Amino acid sequence: MAAENDTHAVGRRLTVLGAGVMGTGIAALAIGHGIPVSLIDPDRRRLAEAPARVERMVRMARLMDALPKESVIGVLVTAASLAEDATADDPAPVAVIEAVTEDADAKAKVIAEVSALVAPGTAIVSNTSAIPIDELARATARPAELIGTHFMNPPHLIRTVEVIRGTHTGEATMDTLRALLAALRREPIVVADAPGFVTSRILHPMINDAVRVVAAGTASVESVDRLMQGCLGHPTGPLRTADLIGLDNLVDSLWVLHERTGDERCRPCDLLLEMVRVGRLGRKSGHGFYAYEGEKA
Ligand SMILES: NC(=O)c1ccc[n+]([C@@H]2O[C@H](COP(=O)([O-])OP(=O)(O)OC[C@H]3O[C@@H](n4cnc5c(N)ncnc54)[C@H](O)[C@@H]3O)[C@@H](O)[C@H]2O)c1
Repeated sequence: MAAENDTHAVGRRLTVLGAGVMGTGIAALAIGHGIPVSLIDPDRRRLAEAPARVERMVRMARLMDALPKESVIGVLVTAASLAEDATADDPAPVAVIEAVTEDADAKAKVIAEVSALVAPGTAIVSNTSAIPIDELARATARPAELIGTHFMNPPHLIRTVEVIRGTHTGEATMDTLRALLAALRREPIVVADAPGFVTSRILHPMINDAVRVVAAGTASVESVDRLMQGCLGHPTGPLRTADLIGLDNLVDSLWVLHERTGDERCRPCDLLLEMVRVGRLGRKSGHGFYAYEGEKA
């Protein structure tokens, strides 16, 4: 009941840029709470596949009681660009969440485009894993409206969300974001801005080290994961987590961290780079450290 009221409090649509692993997950989370979503991606193949993927996620999450069974599912529309989104102002979005490829230039371009198109007062949310929000804020004339919201993967199953308040992020944007996350029944933890914030700054070099351990022949993939699960309480093991993230995204995020911190532990190791080169990207390609026959993300 509380969630329904929260949803009415938001009462607007959400625009999500990027129909990849995270964009589809965020779309599932939102429509599963009755919030209409416009999902934008220039890759028309990805876009065509997205509604079925989102629908599968919602169905699965409802079965697991991770999404409310009583909510009316929000309408999902797709478009190849913001300009092509016929529903863009119907109603105007409360926020635009960018979940595009982890590339600082691409994200800056997207944020510049979004801030030129949406009405002042619309929160512009970056789901970046590692790029500092203050760096992205240089791309917009309204830095007070930009905020980092690092949904974890899968967003519709993990309730805690890392929220990054940039130096310029305004109070009104914080309020909008808090209301949106309440409507989505997520728990925000607000942190300061830094490369990789908290979670990626700790998790990504750890995964890189786990891959190095495998490359050195110290232990098999399975043994590394079973040790980290059984001895240290890691829920899935670092290498299964890497497959879930997507090794291409992991490498991109490690480079972002390495370039901005100089920490050599963040330089993607050779085995990771090789796996990306040959297209073994994890669940999204059907094969990474493990094989995922018939269950591509
Ligand atoms: N994968 C994870 O576990 C995870 C977790 C938290 C945060 N993130 C972050 O979320 C973001 C997206 O990651 P992902 O794993 O979903 O990547 P992905 O590679 O699965 O998807 C990225 C999508 O963005 C699209 N795209 C590129 N340019 C675009 C544009 N201008 N407009 C709209 N769409 C565009 C691509 O076509 C692609 O479909 C990245 O910043 C990533 O670091 C990822």
